[in-house]
Amino acid sequence: MPKKAIGILGTGAYAPERILTNKDLEQMVETSDEWIVSRTGIKERRIAAQGDAASDLAVRAAERAISRAGLTPSQIELIICATVTPDMMFPSTACLIQAKLGIKNAPAFDLSAGCSGFTYALAVGAQLAQEAYRYVLVVGVDVLSKITDYTDRSTCVLFGDGAGAAVLGPVPEGYGILAAELGADGGGGDLLKLPAGGSLKPASVDSVGQGEHFIKMAGNEVFKFAVRIMDRAAGAVLEKAQLAPDDVAWFVPHQANVRIIQAAAARLEVPLERFFVNVDRYGNTSAASIAIALDELARSGELHHGQNVVTVGFGAGLTWAAVALRWWERGETHG
Ligand code: UT7
Repeated sequence: MPKKAIGILGTGAYAPERILTNKDLEQMVETSDEWIVSRTGIKERRIAAQGDAASDLAVRAAERAISRAGLTPSQIELIICATVTPDMMFPSTACLIQAKLGIKNAPAFDLSAGCSGFTYALAVGAQLAQEAYRYVLVVGVDVLSKITDYTDRSTCVLFGDGAGAAVLGPVPEGYGILAAELGADGGGGDLLKLPAGGSLKPASVDSVGQGEHFIKMAGNEVFKFAVRIMDRAAGAVLEKAQLAPDDVAWFVPHQANVRIIQAAAARLEVPLERFFVNVDRYGNTSAASIAIALDELARSGELHHGQNVVTVGFGAGLTWAAVALRWWERGETHG
């Protein structure tokens, strides 16, 4: 795909301090730690402070990513924010991030692709970085706790809040983003949605009363879709990048449910150890999930210069996305 090599120069993440454990949830709905762990792999998730919006979490992650890229905010030339929980319908959260970082004039826009959002944004950002923008800030952020119904046990045990960011920019040839595979099936839009608050059903006493400002999900249907699509998306991006699963040091999957990750690993015939997993600590943070996982992997000491990485996810839309990249460690000039 790339004409000019574009890679990740730095990553950053932010997770709110407050931890909501399975034990806490046992006090709120009829569930059990045993059910949640065995069905999802989730042990705890983070919950944003009451006054914190998506842009607040995003800025903290972005500052870390920019600093790890060895840059200052003023060098960022484009901002893309993937989210389904923007601060407001408009202006875009990306514009709010721009203002909070003190960046002047850089174009900024949001991208909505559910939990696939960060990987979509990596692909879009890399394309634009080839064209015109030297350093691109890509953020994945969601504050799902604000749209979660904590009386609905089928959803409230799954979600958490967080933000992750990456700075894209030029890297030596042969490194960086090798290929992207994006897809969508709008026919599955009803399976995972926030019914009201948009132009279809503006906020009303009725919509609030009916709980239509909360996430509605046909969990089992989404599960089946996820299991089908994860290895297909990963397989397609590997083919485009001319890599075999064995060439990949790390798969960074969307952290929705450990059983979905296990199924993807089995279908790709890749040992689970090569799938980065942190769903136990954060739950499903939607657009932030892969971004946080990638940042944790990058800082773990387990990801090395020249290794191939595949990010792969699925989400509301329905959407799916995978990116294959060869990791370039800042400071290295050749492999
Ligand atoms: O980022 C994309 C967003 N979404 C996802 O990735 C979600 C994908 N889906 C899933 O991860 C799984 O479908 C869930 C974890 C949501 C549910 O697991 P499941 O194995 O598909 O369970 P189920 O929905 O088939 O429900 C099985 C049973 C039901 O009881 P009955 O009807 O068999 O008596 C549910 O009522 O489990 C019950 N149940 C619960 N029990 C205790 C559902 N939620 C809970 C709960 N605690 N929290």
